[in-house]
Amino acid sequence: MTDVRTTLKQGLAQLREAHVPSFTLAAELLLLHVLGRDRTWIYAHPEQEVSAADAERFFALIARRAAGEPTQHLTGKQEFWGLEFEVTPDVLIPRPETEHVIEVALDRLAVRELRAGRKPTFSGEGLQIADIGTGSGCIAIALAKELPGSTIFATDISEAALAIAHRNSFRHGFSDRIHFIKSNLLGKITEHGSHFFDLIVSNPPYIGRREAATLMREVRDHEPEIALYGGEEGYELYADLITQAAAHLKPGGILVLELGHNSLPAVQPLLDAPAWTNVAVTNDLAGIPRVIAAERL
Ligand SMILES: C[S@@+](CC[C@H](N)C(=O)[O-])C[C@H]1O[C@@H](n2cnc3c(N)ncnc32)[C@H](O)[C@@H]1O
Repeated sequence: MTDVRTTLKQGLAQLREAHVPSFTLAAELLLLHVLGRDRTWIYAHPEQEVSAADAERFFALIARRAAGEPTQHLTGKQEFWGLEFEVTPDVLIPRPETEHVIEVALDRLAVRELRAGRKPTFSGEGLQIADIGTGSGCIAIALAKELPGSTIFATDISEAALAIAHRNSFRHGFSDRIHFIKSNLLGKITEHGSHFFDLIVSNPPYIGRREAATLMREVRDHEPEIALYGGEEGYELYADLITQAAAHLKPGGILVLELGHNSLPAVQPLLDAPAWTNVAVTNDLAGIPRVIAAERL
């Protein structure tokens, strides 16, 4: 029999030795997962006994983490926009920088309401929204939460990802307002009723295959290739995405796209076209241009 403090110390020492990034957090999350507890509990109960069976499960997970599996694949979850999402190796693990997509979209919608002389209520009554490449469903579900009057169409080319996204929408109680569609970008969206949107958002795959060797092994070896790579350079999907979005946005409709760390020079010129106005770029907390937004004329 061992206690919480000793078990945690041994686990994080193994992760440190394996050069796992954020090894303390990873060890904590894995122990909490095994014990079914939350983070405050662990520090309030350092002397609590850990059963032999729990210790065995914990050290088995530590070994898998040390071998490169992401913590989220071992716990099966990741938080995004204050909500817990189921994640599996079939979907991209939601990243904190993607929350900027939600922030920019909500800001743009609020400004549009003000310009129309309406009080921004943020209920999104009647709004038609599309999320392209929904993955775990994190963007669609965060928007459904913030805009309870909206209807959302979420596409993905991966059937396996759509199954996870659907489960996440059900779990958070939005499955009646989010329609999941298997589609290449917006290709199949017209088959499902709504042709024109007030808002189109997307975090497309944007890493270049030629950058693959520079990725962390957790990402390169464990996250789905279809979610990571946009092509040899990375930015290849944006041209079609922007052309299709222009055809599916109402006049005054808003496009919000997440950018890869070096996508901006390739993507910004695509929005110089006459279809678009009010183009703006938002940096993430690391100062990297992360989101580009534009309005359909
Ligand atoms: C970078 S991930 C983003 C997932 C999720 N929206 C997020 O922000 O965490 C890109 C997603 O786009 C999907 N995808 C890739 N190519 C696509 C295409 N041509 N059409 C639709 N979805 C695509 C992938 O399966 C993946 O789920």
